[in-house]
Amino acid sequence: MIPMVDLKKQFNDIKDELFHTITEVLESSQYILGPKVQELERQVARYHGVSEAIGVASGTDALHLAVEALGIGEGDEVITTPFTFFATAEAIMYTGAVPVFVDVCPDTMNIDPAKIEEKITERTKAILPVHIFGHPADMEKILAIARKHDLRVIEDCAQSFGAAIGGKRTGAFGDAGCFSFYPSKNLGAFGDAGMVLLNDPSVAFRIKMLRNHGSQGAYRHESVGFNSRLDELQAAVLLVKMKRIDDYNGRRRRNASLYNRLLTDAVTHPVERAGYTHVYHQYTVRSARRDEIQKRLKENGVSSVVYYPIPLHLQEAVSCLGCTKGDFPAAEEAAQQVLSLPMYPELEEDAIRRIADLVNNG
Ligand SMILES: Cc1ncc(COP(=O)(O)O)c(C=O)c1O
Repeated sequence: MIPMVDLKKQFNDIKDELFHTITEVLESSQYILGPKVQELERQVARYHGVSEAIGVASGTDALHLAVEALGIGEGDEVITTPFTFFATAEAIMYTGAVPVFVDVCPDTMNIDPAKIEEKITERTKAILPVHIFGHPADMEKILAIARKHDLRVIEDCAQSFGAAIGGKRTGAFGDAGCFSFYPSKNLGAFGDAGMVLLNDPSVAFRIKMLRNHGSQGAYRHESVGFNSRLDELQAAVLLVKMKRIDDYNGRRRRNASLYNRLLTDAVTHPVERAGYTHVYHQYTVRSARRDEIQKRLKENGVSSVVYYPIPLHLQEAVSCLGCTKGDFPAAEEAAQQVLSLPMYPELEEDAIRRIADLVNNG
C-alpha cells in the first residue's frame, strides 16, 4: 500500500526530540498559552517577516477570527474562490458576512484576479484568496484590486506554509495570513491548531482578545469572544517540526520534480508559475479520465484523493447563496478532473516510479 500521507515516518524520525519536548511541557504543567506558544508565534512571525503572530485552535478559527477582527460582519460581502475546502466559506459565514465566489484560473486553480472586479459591490469588504494545494494565488494583482477599491485582503494559507512569490512568503502579503497546522499539513501538529499572521498591532490585539473569551485576562471581558487558543503541547510539537520545515518542503518539491519528469501527458501536470515557489501540499494532476486512473491506482494499492469533488457554490449547505451549475465553469471542470497523488517529504523514489507507471499506462 502507498498512502496519501505517512505521518508515522516523520514521527519516527523525530521521536526522541518530540518525547523530550512533550515531557518538558508536562513537567511545567503549563498547558495553555505558555512559553512554547509564545516561542512558536515569534518564530513563525520571523520566518514570514511580519510583526504579529497569534496562535489559535485551528485554521478555521484563524480565518474566522481574522475576518471578525478586521471588522467584517452581518451583511458584508467577502470575495473568495469556490475551489477550496469548505472551511474557507464557513469562516466568512460565521461572522454573518456572505461569501461571493469568483471563478478560478484553469492552470493554478486559484482565484482568477481578472474576474474579481465585476463582483465588487458597495457591500464588499474583503478579498479572501486561498493558495490552493500550496501554489500561491496571484497576490500582486489581488493587492492592486484591493488597494483600488479599499478592500482588506485575508490569505487562506492553510495549504501553503513556506510557499512564496519572488521570495516573499504567503501570509505576509495581505492584512492577515491564516494558517492551519492540521496534522497532515506541511507544518502539522498532533491535533488541531492554527495561526494568524499580520502587521497591524491593533487588529492583533483584537484577535488575542477574541481567542480568549474577549478578555485580556484577569476575568475582565470587554467583548464576547471564543475559546480558541493554541495549546502548549501542540506548540511544542510544532517547534520541533518548524526547525525542519524548509527541509520538508524541499523534499516535497523534489518529489514533485520527479513526478513531473516521470509522468507523461497522460495527465496534466501541476503548474508552478515563474517566480512562484509551490510547496506541494498536494501534488494534483488533471485528466478527463480521472476516475479510471483512480480505479487503477486503487486496484494496485495506491491511494489517491479527489480534492475537491464538489465546488463550494454547489454545496447543499450554501444553497441559500443561490448559485447554480454553470456559474463557475473553471472550478466545476477542475472538480471533475483533479486527482491528488501521494505526497509527503518521506515518499520514496521507488514509490513515485510505481505510481507514475500506473498513471501513465492506462
Ligand atoms: C484551504 C483550507 N482552508 C481552511 C482549512 C481549515 O483548517 P483547519 O482544519 O485547521 O480548521 C483547511 C484545512 O483543513 C484548508 O485546506
